[in-house]
Amino acid sequence: MESNDAEFDDYARWTAEAVRALGPHHAIPAGCRGSGSPAVLAWLAEALGLRAGQRFLDVGAGVGGAAAWLSEHYSLRTGCLEPMPGAVEACRSLFGLPAAVATAHQLPVRNGAVPTLWALGVLSTTSHHPVLLAELHRVLEPGGGLGLLVYAASPAGGEVSSVDTDLPAADALPGMLEDASFDLIEVVEASELMDAPRSWTDRLAAVEGWIAERHDHEAAWRTAESGESRLTALLRSGVVRPFLVHARAR
Ligand SMILES: C[S@@+](CC[C@H](N)C(=O)[O-])C[C@H]1O[C@@H](n2cnc3c(N)ncnc32)[C@H](O)[C@@H]1O
Repeated sequence: MESNDAEFDDYARWTAEAVRALGPHHAIPAGCRGSGSPAVLAWLAEALGLRAGQRFLDVGAGVGGAAAWLSEHYSLRTGCLEPMPGAVEACRSLFGLPAAVATAHQLPVRNGAVPTLWALGVLSTTSHHPVLLAELHRVLEPGGGLGLLVYAASPAGGEVSSVDTDLPAADALPGMLEDASFDLIEVVEASELMDAPRSWTDRLAAVEGWIAERHDHEAAWRTAESGESRLTALLRSGVVRPFLVHARAR
């Protein structure tokens, strides 16, 4: 859990500080740590058929940039759950979204209470995939929509055994969803959707630079940086690829 604390808790607090210093226009790009790009978010939102006013849950929401993007574009009533207290605080202070500390293995939500949810980059940061998917299924209403962004070891990517993380295997995703009682509607490899426009990446780079200037002497910054660099290297090599999943709870 130590590397997650640095990557998702300390870094979340620093992100909130940086956005306060640089301006609110930086909040959404900086708050999408893992969810990639507006094109990825738009793909999932369209797949899920979201409509204004609908209730929506973001599980493993991090700082909440993706949920805030959804609220801006689709006027949803979005709630965020996330295990890292620093990220939950950042989500509330940056976006004013309802957010609570919770792990996806035990969500504080009634059975069948949620019409639609997504979990972006979460399956790739935990090893208990069946437990997590079962819990997502429990809180969704029958027929409810599930969106996932999953960084997964690609069968076409070469030496999968070199992947030293809990990343799932891409070709195991359909079976995992079937076992958790989801009907898989679509799974797509999303490398081409990951590039964000310059106006987005410039704001993200400004926040990362602001944080590095003030915190790069700290062990937590180095841990967060090495986690991020390792994923970037795996993505560049093609051993790991981003996949988007749209499924429906049976
Ligand atoms: C790659 S980040 C993505 C954050 C956010 N979804 C986004 O796209 O910007 C993965 C997130 O999953 C959270 N996470 C890790 N294990 C989790 C679990 N068991 N349940 C829920 N969230 C978890 C981390 O704290 C982190 O915020």
